[in-house]
Amino acid sequence: MKAVTIRTFGDPAGLEVVDLPEPEPGPGQVRVATEAIGVGGVDAVIRRGTLAGYGFRPGHLLGSEVAGSVTAVGEGVDPAWTGRRVWAFTGLSGGYAEHTVAAVDDVLPLPDGLTGVDAVALGGSGVVAHFALDRGRLRPGEAVLVRGAAGSIGITAVQLAARGGAGVVAVTTSSPERGARLRELGATHVLDRSGEGGPDAPAGYDVLVDVVGGPQLPSFFDRLNPNGRFVSVGVVGGQPPADFGMRLMEVFRRSLSFATFSSDTVPAPERQAVRSAQFADAARGDLRTVVHDVLPLEDAAAAHRAMDAGEVFGRVVLTP
Ligand SMILES: NC(=O)c1ccc[n+]([C@@H]2O[C@H](COP(=O)([O-])OP(=O)(O)OC[C@H]3O[C@@H](n4cnc5c(N)ncnc54)[C@H](OP(=O)(O)O)[C@@H]3O)[C@@H](O)[C@H]2O)c1
Repeated sequence: MKAVTIRTFGDPAGLEVVDLPEPEPGPGQVRVATEAIGVGGVDAVIRRGTLAGYGFRPGHLLGSEVAGSVTAVGEGVDPAWTGRRVWAFTGLSGGYAEHTVAAVDDVLPLPDGLTGVDAVALGGSGVVAHFALDRGRLRPGEAVLVRGAAGSIGITAVQLAARGGAGVVAVTTSSPERGARLRELGATHVLDRSGEGGPDAPAGYDVLVDVVGGPQLPSFFDRLNPNGRFVSVGVVGGQPPADFGMRLMEVFRRSLSFATFSSDTVPAPERQAVRSAQFADAARGDLRTVVHDVLPLEDAAAAHRAMDAGEVFGRVVLTP
């Protein structure tokens, strides 16, 4: 089967189209013939080598989420799954391929009215957005800032916060055009990447959902209200500086909370319940998915170049 692996970390040119054997589903797994493959910010982070400390090696097969049809089931899995159209989470590898395997606990049937392309624009990221707001304990009327809102996590977080009755839904983004698109999704205030938003910008935020990380992360502690909750969900801008914990201690008297959140820590049934509800909302048009582009699998490097150039709004999807 055709697949895309990382030959060398760094530039997208290090991605390589290769031939691999079709994977066999192990116990508790299903095999999926892919029809849509999500290109997530996490793929770019792995490819750049930002997560080198986590043990990724050359030859790594990228891709976390796909949609397609179940073609085989492993030991212990109900054969009734065969033939179903599903969304599937493949972990931190395996998705950029014509066939992949996933644990049946991380597979969800697609509702009528939701395309595979839309499912991979929402499936993984929507859950992160939901639980980030939940862990931030966002209450109606409070002010939330979504930092790095133009990706698929942020796009869903903005919609959920607006729908949940937040008093302010501010976003950071890199251009007024992207800001205008985020306003259409529910943002009330648009800030630049450093968090500046001119005289009308809110004075502070109760909850900050951060997709970006990077060197500027600690400067956002100053933008939180007393008792503010910072929830870090991503590092698309790189790791924060080593002294960021000291910077938090320096504002000790404002009782801020800093939390990391990974959807890995949410039990699979809870993740699936949230995802299933979001898929139903999206199929009804109550939650919008934003697909930046759909490209052939062999053009994965072009998808990554677009991400590195900062052109992507929403999600790029590959088709085999
Ligand atoms: N916590 C979890 O369970 C979980 C699960 C999956 C993925 N993730 C993480 O989430 C991240 C990907 O999320 P995503 O796909 O929504 O993000 P994304 O699309 O890669 O990026 C979101 C936005 O961040 C802004 N941005 C990019 N680089 C920046 C920089 N250097 N400084 C400031 N802003 C920058 C860009 O918007 P503008 O140009 O408009 O500023 C970009 O559109 C990854 O770090 C991944 O590891 C976490």
